[in-house]
Amino acid sequence: MKQYLKLDEWNIIEEGFNPENNEISESIFSLGNGFMGQRANFEEEYSGNSLQGSYIAGVYFPDKTRVGWWKNGYPEYFAKVLNSTNWIGINIVIDGESLNLGECEVKNFTRILHMKEGYLERAFNAILKNGKEIRVNSKRFISMARNEIGTIKYSISPINFDGCIEITPYLDGDIINKDSNYDEKFWLEVLKGVKPYEGYVMLKTKKLDFNICSYMRFDITKNGEKLNTSIDTFQKDKYISNTAKIDCCKNDEIVVYKYVANTSSRYYDIDTLREVTEDLSLQAQNAGFQTLFEEQVKAWDEKWTHSDIIIKGDVEAQQAIRFNIFQLNQTYTGQDERLNIGPKGFTGEKYGGSTYWDTEAYCLPFYLSTAEEKVSKNLLLYRYKQLDKAIENAEKLGFTNGSALYPMVTMNGEECHNEWEITFEEIHRNGAIAYGIYNYVNYTGDKSYLGEYGLDVLVGISRFWAQRVNFSTGKNKYVMLGVTGPNEYENNVNNNWYTNTIATWTLEYTIDVINYLKENDIKRFNELENKLNISPEELENWQHIIENMYYPEDKNLGVFLQQDGYMDKEQVLVKDLDSKHLPLNQKWSWDRILRSCFIKQADVLQGLYFLEDRYNIDTVKRNFEFYEPRTVHESSLSPCIHTILASKIGNVEKAYEMYLRTARLDLDNYNNDTCDGCHTTSMAGTWMAFVQGFGGLRVKNDKLILNPLIPDQWEGYSFKVMYRGSLLKVDVTSNNIDINNETDKEVLLSIYDKNYTIKGYETLNIRR
Ligand code: BGC
Repeated sequence: MKQYLKLDEWNIIEEGFNPENNEISESIFSLGNGFMGQRANFEEEYSGNSLQGSYIAGVYFPDKTRVGWWKNGYPEYFAKVLNSTNWIGINIVIDGESLNLGECEVKNFTRILHMKEGYLERAFNAILKNGKEIRVNSKRFISMARNEIGTIKYSISPINFDGCIEITPYLDGDIINKDSNYDEKFWLEVLKGVKPYEGYVMLKTKKLDFNICSYMRFDITKNGEKLNTSIDTFQKDKYISNTAKIDCCKNDEIVVYKYVANTSSRYYDIDTLREVTEDLSLQAQNAGFQTLFEEQVKAWDEKWTHSDIIIKGDVEAQQAIRFNIFQLNQTYTGQDERLNIGPKGFTGEKYGGSTYWDTEAYCLPFYLSTAEEKVSKNLLLYRYKQLDKAIENAEKLGFTNGSALYPMVTMNGEECHNEWEITFEEIHRNGAIAYGIYNYVNYTGDKSYLGEYGLDVLVGISRFWAQRVNFSTGKNKYVMLGVTGPNEYENNVNNNWYTNTIATWTLEYTIDVINYLKENDIKRFNELENKLNISPEELENWQHIIENMYYPEDKNLGVFLQQDGYMDKEQVLVKDLDSKHLPLNQKWSWDRILRSCFIKQADVLQGLYFLEDRYNIDTVKRNFEFYEPRTVHESSLSPCIHTILASKIGNVEKAYEMYLRTARLDLDNYNNDTCDGCHTTSMAGTWMAFVQGFGGLRVKNDKLILNPLIPDQWEGYSFKVMYRGSLLKVDVTSNNIDINNETDKEVLLSIYDKNYTIKGYETLNIRR
C-alpha cells in the first residue's frame, strides 16, 4: 500500500514527481464525461512508464479469445473498449531540446484533481539538459456540458533564458491496446487532414467498423495577446500535427489553448462524421476556454448538489468518498441506454471496459439515489435490449424454451472473455440482473416497468434456473451442480448457497410479478402470457423447485455453507496466515487457492445482503462472524458488502475498517493494481457502504427507511438522496439527526422504526 497523495477535502493532490507512481496517478487523476475518458497522461513527450489511455464510450473490438484448448461453448472473442486517438498531445521543444520529464530535472511538481470543478491541473519547473529552465502549468477537462469536447490550457514560461519555444499540438491515432490478445493494432485510417491551427484524424476499427473522428483546433497567446505565428503542418499514418516556433524572453508566458472534438459513428452518420466533428470543435473554440470552464463548473455543481457526502472530522474519509462519487459521475451519465459501466470505467484497459454483474449488484443503488429515474432505468433497459442475445447464449449451451443466460462479461449481449471456469460458470450473475429489476421497482415505485419490460427478462432468467437445476434422488431435493459463486477462489463447485438462493428467489419474484400483473393489469398480463407462452404447469414446476431446493448448511455452526464441500477444507483464518502469503492471488498457485478455505469476496454474505428481510439478525451475525475472518477481500467489491453487514449487526469498528478499505482502495492502492485503472464499479459499492451501511438507508413497502449510526472517528456526516421526486439531505451527529426536504414533495419515512412525514422544504429533527 502506497500513500503518497496529500489529504484534502475536495482535491486529490500529488506533490513532487516520482516516476514510480506515475501509472497509478495516471489512473487516479483520470477524467471523463460518460462519453469519453482520458487517463492523466502528460501532454508533452514522456519516456518513463506510462499507460497511454483515451477511450470513447462503447467503441470496442472483438479480440479473438486466447485459450489453450478450445472447447464447445467458449466465448469467441474478448471485447475491449479501445484505446483511441491521443488527442491531448502537445510536444514542446526548447532551443532544440525536447521537454520530457523522464529526461530532465523536475522541480515543484504538482498534479491536482479539482473534483468540485471537474478539471485536472499539473504544474512543474523543468530544467533541461541544456540548462534551460521553464515553468509549465496545464489545465484540462472533458466537458460535462458538451459530450464530445475536451480542452487544454497549457502555459509555458522561460525562467532563465531568452530563446525559441517550439510547440507541436497533434492528434495521434497510431495507438495500441496493451491488453491485445495477439499484439494486433485495431485501428485503420479513414481520412485525415491538416492546415495551420487545425487538423483531424478519422479512424475505423477493424471488424466492427466503428468510426471515430478527432478534430483539433488551437490558439496561442503570448503574455495574453493572441499570436498569428506561421505554422508548419505535418502528417503521417494516422497522425497530424502543427508546429509553431515562438521567440520569447525570460518570464514571458506562452499559452496554448487546445480544443478537441471526439466523435463516433455510434452517434453520427459516418458520411457526416468529419463535418460534425469539425463544427463541434469550432463551436468549442469560439466559446473559448473560459466559457467552457464556466459551463464545466456549473455542470459539476449540479452533480454535487444531488450526490455530495460530507464527513466532519475525518479528512481521509472525506476525500475518499468525494473521489468515489466524482469517478462515478464522470463514468456514467445515463443518457444512452446502450452504454454501461465497465469495472475500470474510463481509467484503464483491464476488464475490457465491458459490463459485468457489478452494474446491477453494486452500481444501481448509487444512480437510483443520486440521479433522475431515467438514469437507472437506462441501466435496466440495457439488459432488456439484450434479452434475445441472452436467450441465444443459453441455447448455445443446450437450454431451450426461451431460457436466458445473461453474459458475465459483455459489450452487446454476447459473452466475451478469455475464461471459462471462473467467469462463465458464474451463472449467479443472472440472479443479480433479476434483482436489479426488483431493486429499481422497489426504490422508484415504477411498477409500470414490470409489464413493459421487466417480466420478459424475469421469465427468461427463471426458465434458465428451472432448467439448470436437477433433482437429486439421493438428496430428494433440487441441486445446482458445477457453478462458480461470487467467490472466484472456488471453481466448479456444487450447490453454491448463494446461487441456489438467488435462483429460487428469482422464481418467487417472477411468480409475484405475474400475480401482480394479473391483479392490476390483466390486459398486459394476457398479452405477455401469450407472447411468452407462460403456462400453469410451468409455474407449478417453478413452485415445486422453490419448495424443494437444497441449501447447504452446517446446523451445528448455524451457518449456511458456501458450497457442499466447504467444510472439508482445512479451516484457517486470515489472521493466522503469515502476511507474506498475501495477496494470495499474487503469492499462491491457483491450485493452492482453489483448495484453500480463503474467500475472495462476499458470497454467502452477498445473499444475506440482497435478501436481508428473510434472515434474522442472529443469522446474519453468525454467518458474518464465520465468513469474514476467512475472507481476504481480494476483489475490490468485497469490503463494501462487509461494511453494510457489519453496520447492520452493530459492529461499527469493523464497518469503519472495511469502509476505509473500500473508499481508499485506489487512493491508497490497497490491491497494488491501481496502475491498471481505478476500481470504478467498487466505487459505487463505497457509496452503498456509506449510505446503506452507516446511513441505514432502505426502501421497504414504499417507505424510505433510515437507521443512521456514526463511527467514533467522525464528528458528523451528511448525505443526499433523491427519492421519488424529492431530494433529502440527511445530517447525522452522535446525538442528532436532521433531515431536510429540499423539494416541495412530502416524504413518508421511518427512522429507528418510527414513522414520520416531512413536508416540502421542512426539516425533521430527531435527538438520539
Ligand atoms: C470479481 C467479480 C467482478 C469482476 C469485475 C472480479 O475480480 O471477482 O465479481 O465481477 O472482478 O469487477
